[in-house]
Amino acid sequence: MRQSIVRLERVTKEFPLPEGGTIAALKAIDLDVARNEFLTLLGPSGCGKTTLLHAISGFVELDGGKVSIDGEDVTQRPPHRRPVNTVFQNYALFPHMSVGDNVGYALDIAGTARDERNRRVGEALERVGLAGLQGRQPRQLSGGQQQRVALARASPKLLLLDEPLSALDRNLRQAMQIELKTLQAELGISFIFVTHDQEEALTMSNRVAVLDKGSIQQIDTPREVYNHPGNSFVARFVGASNLFPGTVRRRDAEVVELASSEGDLIRAATKSGGGPAEGKTVTALIRPEQFSISDAANGRRSAQLDIDVEQVVFTGSNFEIHGRTRPGKKVLAIIAAAHQEEIARIEASRSARLAYDPAAVHLIDAAETAS
Ligand SMILES: Nc1ncnc2c1ncn2[C@@H]1O[C@H](COP(=O)(O)OP(=O)(O)OP(=O)(O)O)[C@@H](O)[C@H]1O
Ligand SMILES: [Mg+2]
Repeated sequence: MRQSIVRLERVTKEFPLPEGGTIAALKAIDLDVARNEFLTLLGPSGCGKTTLLHAISGFVELDGGKVSIDGEDVTQRPPHRRPVNTVFQNYALFPHMSVGDNVGYALDIAGTARDERNRRVGEALERVGLAGLQGRQPRQLSGGQQQRVALARASPKLLLLDEPLSALDRNLRQAMQIELKTLQAELGISFIFVTHDQEEALTMSNRVAVLDKGSIQQIDTPREVYNHPGNSFVARFVGASNLFPGTVRRRDAEVVELASSEGDLIRAATKSGGGPAEGKTVTALIRPEQFSISDAANGRRSAQLDIDVEQVVFTGSNFEIHGRTRPGKKVLAIIAAAHQEEIARIEASRSARLAYDPAAVHLIDAAETAS
């Protein structure tokens, strides 16, 4: 088996609460990060992302479990003896120091001889495509160049990044996401990247670990996490979702019919494995972009949902249609802006027939549903 760069085994951390009692920040976390992987930790505020990074870097004392980096047990080692660096929000370059001094900082502290230090700073800057910029101040660099300086400063094996892009505006942030991903692949460093922005997680990662309340809810590729969320928490947290909890009313070789608790009828394609039995409680997920506006039978086996339209919102590339099914369940549909005519009709009639392909409906086993 290929050795992982990071392995956590049953890593547990509780913090005492000022009002008494404790909060479980990490609940017996198992995690394997592959060499060269870009892994993102995604989850709401307080779910344990930073604590998990600290467990790896050594900045938190664990209550239990084992941390290995590059095959070595580092559980008892202090931070400075672990082959890890952390990059924080906005890269935290020292603004009053030149690029060369920022990159050489750790070497200066360690008392590395001048020639050796200069050689290594030069190499590090060359590695990230900034050769010759030693003398610049951070403010004289673009955001992308500052990002590269932060990476030049980092150790070669494993980099932990705690929401480094969160302070940036949207356009710059998107540009930096692509740049960071490209750099990671070029440099061959393993990244563990923290964000609470699901779009960012999907854009950047080889795999995404979705956390909630100190536990990993699901860890998989962005596509799997989005298309096949393991529970309703993941479905809600990653992307917009229409969730229909209900009971399987009928099932045959082709379709599973679900009567939702609100009174809607949802059809899902029966998966080759068989799918849930009649009478079983499940939750159906339909992503908003899976809906189209039904007027023509397009040859595919299609199912429909009639809604009363409450709002039509133009977002540039799409229209968001907010409405309710006849039993009163809220529904969001996203329709490409190219469908101008259909949208005009919907706005006039304040109602829509939404079509979806039963094959695009994902059924979540109620037993797996997070509380
Ligand atoms: N030093 C501490 N003392 C007490 N409680 C702490 C401490 N550090 C974290 N916690 C608690 O542990 C939980 C996890 O915190 P953590 O900082 O890991 O969350 P996070 O996912 O990084 O959140 P955010 O997205 O807001 O940064 C939270 O409930 C937090 O209040
Ligand atoms: Mg945090």
